[in-house]
Amino acid sequence: MPGATLKILRDEHLAIATVLYTLRYLVQHEDGEDQAPRFPVLHAIVDYIVSYPDRWHHPKEETQLFRCLRLRTQEADALIADLELEHCAGYNMIEDLRDKLQALERGEAGAREKFRDAALRYAQFEWSHLRREEDLLFPLAEEYLQAEDWASIHKAFRENDNPLFGLKPRDHAEQLYQRILELAPAPIGRR
Ligand SMILES: [Fe+2]
Ligand SMILES: [Fe+2]
Repeated sequence: MPGATLKILRDEHLAIATVLYTLRYLVQHEDGEDQAPRFPVLHAIVDYIVSYPDRWHHPKEETQLFRCLRLRTQEADALIADLELEHCAGYNMIEDLRDKLQALERGEAGAREKFRDAALRYAQFEWSHLRREEDLLFPLAEEYLQAEDWASIHKAFRENDNPLFGLKPRDHAEQLYQRILELAPAPIGRR
């Protein structure tokens, strides 16, 4: 069961990492003054992050994985506290990034550089967060969690596949994800 559950989490990380890579690629390769930013795909990226990882993935880690692990051992306490702070910091960073994207659309002076710097900082920050979970937290979870813990965590993450509020969160995420690929330029997307 740990393997199957951690595969769901790793698959979610992979989707998030792909979106972060796309964001980084866009701001690094398309910042010539004569080239207009690709606003539709940049908005789709911000919407994806707010709609899926920030609304479903990180909160579920806190209420399931982190909570269960805290009950089994104190060894992960400091790491979990750090990861929870990173979730909070990430929520603020993406809101700030959305503000900077709007400033860029309004054509404010210096907005392009500010957006690019914030996007690169955010992508690096989230990437390290995912790595810390996979490299440091998952091994502790495998060591300490019991079968009943894995069963409840697995069920909770599978719920992302169930219809809630008339829409499956994972289907919604998949639609946004496909839209990003649709709008992104080659070699990432289909344009
Ligand atoms: Fe996380
Ligand atoms: Fe995560």
